[in-house]
Amino acid sequence: MGAADHASNAPVPRIVFLGPPGAGKGTQAGRLAGECGIVRISTGDMLRDNIAKGTPLGQKAAPYIDRGDLVPDDLLIGMVGERVRQKDCEAGFILDGFPRTLRQAEGLEGMEGGDSGGLLVINVEVPREELLRRLSGRRWCPTCQSTYHVYTNPPREPGICDRDGTRLIQREDDKESAVAHRLAEYDERTRPLIEYFRGRSRFHTVNGHRPVETVFAELSGIVGARA
Ligand code: AP5
Repeated sequence: MGAADHASNAPVPRIVFLGPPGAGKGTQAGRLAGECGIVRISTGDMLRDNIAKGTPLGQKAAPYIDRGDLVPDDLLIGMVGERVRQKDCEAGFILDGFPRTLRQAEGLEGMEGGDSGGLLVINVEVPREELLRRLSGRRWCPTCQSTYHVYTNPPREPGICDRDGTRLIQREDDKESAVAHRLAEYDERTRPLIEYFRGRSRFHTVNGHRPVETVFAELSGIVGARA
């Protein structure tokens, strides 16, 4: 599938990735966005970018992110609402990391004109011990935001980004205590969205505990079948 396939009568894909930290949402959303020729909107990347630039939003969000807490709903709903109104979202978009609370889900429904029926929601499931393994080994490029894993997806030169040569870092919130808190936040505040969307949107659960290519092939099939 390419961008041109969405140009005429095909419905504009508006895709939501749900799943716990480390499920592979970012990995898969990035690939899928490239394949479909649509925009990936990662709220985690947007917030980290605001922090790096020292914007007022970034200054408010930083302490929450470092602790592994969710950033307040109003900030997220405002940030995403503004982003999806931009021109490059007219052809469709993938939301990676939003919504994460019931309030955010209702905010998204408001952006959809009060009806979540046009959303394609993909819930990625991965066992807890695998999530811990993935998050503890993840390394991240602060320049281009590429993600690596020390064992399963290492860069060509250890500790250096393949794309731009930047020294890779471990995210502050991938350290042990923050990871435990993020997973608890997911269980309490985000997992209920599975039932919320199951009744309102096109909904698929995907087993994310398989090789990246296998998961991606299934996702491509789901999204292609809809277009
Ligand atoms: P965010 O950046 O969105 O973090 P997250 O949801 O916790 O997701 P992750 O980036 O940890 O995991 P992922 O599922 O994208 O997995 P990835 O592809 O990287 O948010 C960070 C923080 O920002 C939040 O904690 C919160 O504070 C704040 N925030 C963001 N959005 C918010 C919102 N809506 N409301 C409130 N606060 C918000 O993969 C993980 C690792 O696994 C990588 O190393 C990767 O290489 C590897 N991997 C991926 N797929 C596979 C596979 N199939 N097999 C083996 N390894 C794999």
